[in-house]
Amino acid sequence: MSVETNSIGKPVSRIDGPAKVTGRAKYAAEFTAPDLAYGFVVSSVVAKGRIQSIDRSAALAVPGVIEVFAHDNRPSLPSSHEKYKDQVAAPGSPFRPLYNGEILFSGQPVALVVAEELEIARFAASLIDIIYETGEAVTYLDTQIDKAFEPPEKRAPDWDPPARGDVDSALLRSPTRIRTEYRTPVEHHNPMETFASTAVWENDGRLTVYDKTQGAPNCHEYLCSVFGLAKDKVRVLSPYVGGAFGVGLRPNYQLFMAALAAIGLKRSVRVALTRQQMFTLGYRPQTLQTLTLGADNDGRLVAVKHDAIANTSRFEDYQEPTVVWSGALYPCDHATVTSRLARLDLVTPCDMRAPGGAVGMYALESAMDELSYAVGVDPLELRLKNYSERDQNQDRPISSKALKDCYLQGAERFGWSKRKPAPRSMREGRELVGYGMATGIWSAFFVPTSARAILAPDGTLEIACATADIGTGTYTILAQIGAEMLGLPLDNVIVKIGDSDLPRAPVEGGSWTAASAGSAVMQACDGIRKELLKHASAINNSPLQGVDVADVTMVDGQIRMKRDPSRAMPLSEALTGLNEPITSEVSSTPDERVLQEYSHYAHSAVFAEVRLDEELGMLRVARVVSAVAAGRILNPKTARSQILGAVVGGIGMALHEETVIDHRYGRFMNHSLAEYHVPVHADVHAIDVIFVDEQEHRLNPLGVKGVGEIGIVGTAAAIANAVFHATGVRVRDLPITIDKLL
Ligand code: MOS
Repeated sequence: MSVETNSIGKPVSRIDGPAKVTGRAKYAAEFTAPDLAYGFVVSSVVAKGRIQSIDRSAALAVPGVIEVFAHDNRPSLPSSHEKYKDQVAAPGSPFRPLYNGEILFSGQPVALVVAEELEIARFAASLIDIIYETGEAVTYLDTQIDKAFEPPEKRAPDWDPPARGDVDSALLRSPTRIRTEYRTPVEHHNPMETFASTAVWENDGRLTVYDKTQGAPNCHEYLCSVFGLAKDKVRVLSPYVGGAFGVGLRPNYQLFMAALAAIGLKRSVRVALTRQQMFTLGYRPQTLQTLTLGADNDGRLVAVKHDAIANTSRFEDYQEPTVVWSGALYPCDHATVTSRLARLDLVTPCDMRAPGGAVGMYALESAMDELSYAVGVDPLELRLKNYSERDQNQDRPISSKALKDCYLQGAERFGWSKRKPAPRSMREGRELVGYGMATGIWSAFFVPTSARAILAPDGTLEIACATADIGTGTYTILAQIGAEMLGLPLDNVIVKIGDSDLPRAPVEGGSWTAASAGSAVMQACDGIRKELLKHASAINNSPLQGVDVADVTMVDGQIRMKRDPSRAMPLSEALTGLNEPITSEVSSTPDERVLQEYSHYAHSAVFAEVRLDEELGMLRVARVVSAVAAGRILNPKTARSQILGAVVGGIGMALHEETVIDHRYGRFMNHSLAEYHVPVHADVHAIDVIFVDEQEHRLNPLGVKGVGEIGIVGTAAAIANAVFHATGVRVRDLPITIDKLL
């Protein structure tokens, strides 16, 4: 018997695809409950100050309005900010919704109208009359530069690498020096699915919440902590998530609101945010970065200095790993990187699409491009000259690094050798053509995760883990791992995720889920293999008697001796007489010694071609080749989709995305998809993804580094560098809109 297992390494289509395209997949706002009520959030129109009074009488007079919750009538809530901290909270004092009348940012939720129908709630919300005592909000980063500070508490110790050498005197001695400033704006994640929570109140006092989140367990803990509920009284589910890009890592306030109303009214309540309200959640902070490079006449780096200032809120120190890569990537004896924060009267930023890496590497790789012209060395040649096998920050080996192959294979596929060195030297018809490239780097994580596998007597394998699939392919790769481990057809594997009742998993972020949940599933299945073999070898006349699990493979629906394939048993036979399912649950953790001894990164080389029609003022990214080294690729199809999406994110970052603040009101102004520009089909042309071969043996049992975020890092710089090559104009503040090229 031979079965198509579609296991690891096969380009399998998403197993959740049919459910998604037929509408069977239900999202947070699509779950319902008997007697469901609807909440609508009232958002503050001022950015700083205090609520003097709330007149809710007109709203309450509308037939169908059930209640208006605000700080002046809310149920009891804990005052301690600690109670509101979630797994990925930034250091500081988390925002406490409806806690008091203080206004900390524009768009802050200040009331929740609950009604029998959504339309009634929304209409009644417009009738609520709030009088504010308005303070003066500061939202302009440039005015706060001299108050920028180094946050006392770092999110990760290796984000604060020690300075090495004597960077200032080395810079003075360097024959070539580049000192430049780069700016990146506020960007919002804009996932397709807006945030929603459907809180189902059960009569025995249990609360089941369907939430849009990247971490059901994180939201579960948050609700238990804030509302003082026992762990077994709350369950959070997120079976499907319509994109998130980081804005679903922390619990968002609609979750709080839905739970508060459900608990207060003892009734099921759904709260969904509008697209405009999506701009009142976290965002990518703006940065102002200064990069100084010193090099010898051949372009070998001697000194690197990188200082970044990013904004945070008044109440939390949100920080990203923006500058760490500048110290790590290229060999040089003198390096200092510093990262500071400036407080603004905005909501706290949050992780978005390779937080820190996307913006920091934009600056570093733009500066490297500037250096390539200063020393007259081809940009790719410059990277190869400055290649390091070691992590320069930690001065330790990198577990695996196939970046050189990314450079070479990417350049070959792109046709980099056809590039003429001088800016404005390539033209085709009416268009100026530019080639640019950049390096990408992102941490390869392995985060403690638990998983359970259950093999039923009928040969069905169930995989269970609380992690999420935010569109990334988690369902599919976990099924493939299960199929691979037991030699089962993919159809025999059922994957359950997105549920706080399942074995514990961290938030689905950092590109760590394939490595972390994947390893946990692999190890859980390994437990099944052992038990199954025990059972199979005890069967009368079993060809597997006395055989150790290390000596067999489970493949093509058979258990087979590795050295003597004639000694084999079909899985269907091996399950004979099995009355109970075999269950195996594990907690998978990284080897601390490996984490200490080696650095772990995924790398990429990004090549971009841009074309500018000067007469029409049209700039487009005609081609991108992204060559990625990320260890083992579990599914080339879903992995490629990850990189395609991330490259589109990079095109957006380079040319389109920017949230504009009106400093008079401290408010994000372009809070809609009409005015916040993301790349549309017409902006996305050829994207070519290469996964170079890379063997990773240490980080986790699967040899996986994870893909996703690595696809955006380097992309904006490659495009910006191509724009310079095409036009001779160096734009140092993103996005590169056409007005900046004139
Ligand atoms: Mo990612 S920005 O950790 O969802």
